[in-house]
Amino acid sequence: MEFSDISADISEVLYTEEQLQSRLAEMAREIERDYAGKEVLIVGVLKGAVIVISDLIRELKFHAHIDFMAVSSYGASTQSSGVVRIVKDLDADLRGKHVLIVEDIIDSGLTLAWIVRNLELRHPESIEVCAMLRKPDAIVEDVRVKYVGFDIPNKFVVGYGLDYAEQYRNIRGVGVLNPSVYSDGDPHA
Ligand code: IMP
Ligand code: MG
Repeated sequence: MEFSDISADISEVLYTEEQLQSRLAEMAREIERDYAGKEVLIVGVLKGAVIVISDLIRELKFHAHIDFMAVSSYGASTQSSGVVRIVKDLDADLRGKHVLIVEDIIDSGLTLAWIVRNLELRHPESIEVCAMLRKPDAIVEDVRVKYVGFDIPNKFVVGYGLDYAEQYRNIRGVGVLNPSVYSDGDPHA
């Protein structure tokens, strides 16, 4: 697909690049305050979190360490099952570290809840969650999220790291994917 053609695929722009960046800067100020004098390890879950993490760490006025893990959900269901397999684990030892998990979006919360439980077993000094977007109407399992960019409607969105079939991640804003793009199936598939 030609990149220039994507405007027809987006039915509504929810946030422009400028809006995302200015909210991210506000979140960075909160994080700087909360972690003053502490060493933070930012943990990203591949792949969607890559964009928000790259922007967040450049906004932060301290040396943030980063590490990544990749997980896959078990089961044939197109919705998150909450039963997770680690595909790539973190390199870092979490013992005694202040861990900040950074997510692109929290949908059902099932994957994140599993990851938090898994990382807690590794004895970090603290563990918190930061998510650029959250769908409050889709939450199945409540996870304490200390930093939230925006709460959004329960619609399938793309851009700013979020994909549909591995496309649209590199759009700078966030928009609702036109349902005609996935009319033949479930967008979470
Ligand atoms: P859950 O919170 O366990 O349901 O899974 C969240 C994951 O599903 C996210 O990290 C995204 O990869 C994906 N996801 C959920 N909602 C959307 C969306 O609206 N657009 C793109 N990906 C989404
Ligand atoms: Mg995805």
